[in-house]
Amino acid sequence: MQVRLTINGQPHELDVAPHRSLADVLRTDLAMTGTKVACAEGTCGSCTVLLDGRAVLSCLTFASACDSSKVATVEGSTPLLERLRDAFTAHDGFQCGFCTPGQLMSAVALLQRTPRPSRAEIRTAMAGNLCRCGAYEGIEQAVAAAAEAG
Ligand code: FES
Ligand code: FES
Repeated sequence: MQVRLTINGQPHELDVAPHRSLADVLRTDLAMTGTKVACAEGTCGSCTVLLDGRAVLSCLTFASACDSSKVATVEGSTPLLERLRDAFTAHDGFQCGFCTPGQLMSAVALLQRTPRPSRAEIRTAMAGNLCRCGAYEGIEQAVAAAAEAG
């Protein structure tokens, strides 16, 4: 079926089978491999993207259900995403970096709805994003620093 998506501000028209995930379409059809897939079953958060401003797990989201939606991925460039990228670098918010795209997109969603979150709100908002390297302290500090810099 035909699906129209605006991804990071760019319009796309795609022919996708109804069962395919948004993560698969982004990575395979559009070569947007910044969105990672670790578990493919909704438990790790590495595939997090924004769908009409809301953080979603793109491995569990049917691309066919996203017609006429706006998608934001880690390949995008917005002042908030850039601020978070800088803060993750400055505060050691990653080690291997595999979880980082999902962490960044969850943090974007958080700071868009709550520009000055408490540490507890940061931990709650980021709880669905697992980090096998255990970089949680740096991630929390990075999100807090990006909020303070906004
Ligand atoms: S890859 Fe989607 S939640 Fe793990
Ligand atoms: S930085 Fe390696 S999984 Fe998070």
